[in-house]
Amino acid sequence: MTGQFEGKVALVTAAADGIGAATAQAFAQNGARVILADINVELGEQRAEALRAAGHEAHFIRTDATSEDDVEALIRHTVERFGGLHLAANVVGDAHPGSAGPEFHQQSLEAFEHTIKMCLSTTFLCLKHQIAHMIDNGGGAIANVTSLAGMLYNGWGGSAYGAGKAGVIRMTKFAAVSYAEHGIRVNCIAPGVTPTRAYYKSGPEHAKTLIDQQVINQPIRRAIETSEQADGIIWLCSDHAAMVTGHVLPIDGGWMAQY
Ligand SMILES: NC(=O)c1ccc[n+]([C@@H]2O[C@H](COP(=O)([O-])OP(=O)(O)OC[C@H]3O[C@@H](n4cnc5c(N)ncnc54)[C@H](O)[C@@H]3O)[C@@H](O)[C@H]2O)c1
Repeated sequence: MTGQFEGKVALVTAAADGIGAATAQAFAQNGARVILADINVELGEQRAEALRAAGHEAHFIRTDATSEDDVEALIRHTVERFGGLHLAANVVGDAHPGSAGPEFHQQSLEAFEHTIKMCLSTTFLCLKHQIAHMIDNGGGAIANVTSLAGMLYNGWGGSAYGAGKAGVIRMTKFAAVSYAEHGIRVNCIAPGVTPTRAYYKSGPEHAKTLIDQQVINQPIRRAIETSEQADGIIWLCSDHAAMVTGHVLPIDGGWMAQY
């Protein structure tokens, strides 16, 4: 699939690490010029530099995806720097520690709202400003990132994360229908167990226990690589998926197939 995005500009949020970093690399390896957006300046700059060292065109822009000013500026700078925006992966999403776990009657509104902001508001802001550009410039393809927690009960993730990620699915489908006639496709991936820094927050022992516990739910019983999540985003944004929009693609080793 090398070179399929030649002449295209791709934007990736949460691009400094995890699934976002793998997605930025995959867009670049497929010929796109890539804008990496993240709040982590040091790691984001490193990722962009590594892509340039490998011969790709890549640029990092510090962006807090919960800030409308930042997201609006990100799209403006992307277009100014690379002359357009054709492809986007909206990867930012996380749960506040205070909104995790099954017992949400003990959780604060502050933790709930933080998680909704991270999962849903970031997706709204990115879609809003990406679509505002694409609608007047020949369309584009966008991939959001939801979670299995948006489709089934996940006690560990908590109600706010599940509600936020369910919202990402609904928003994906809404945008897909609303903008299909403008040549804009909007889809999302739903990752299964994909060990990233998010898993290692409480140390390697805890991460191993968590991964082992969760992988049991996947008929294909191994953890998923970030590059395997990126492969799904690349396909959804490619012309191979020209008739695919409003779709949720679980990349989950068969977890969802059991329901
Ligand atoms: N890893 C999994 O198993 C898994 C499973 C289901 C869903 N997801 C979803 O996939 C997405 C990526 O997860 P990951 O595990 O790769 O995460 P990660 O923790 O590896 O990376 C997250 C990145 O987001 C950046 N970030 C955090 N807040 C930001 C903000 N406000 N603005 C811009 N960037 C910000 C961080 O600096 C970091 O670089 C998330 O939406 C997550 O909910 C992941």
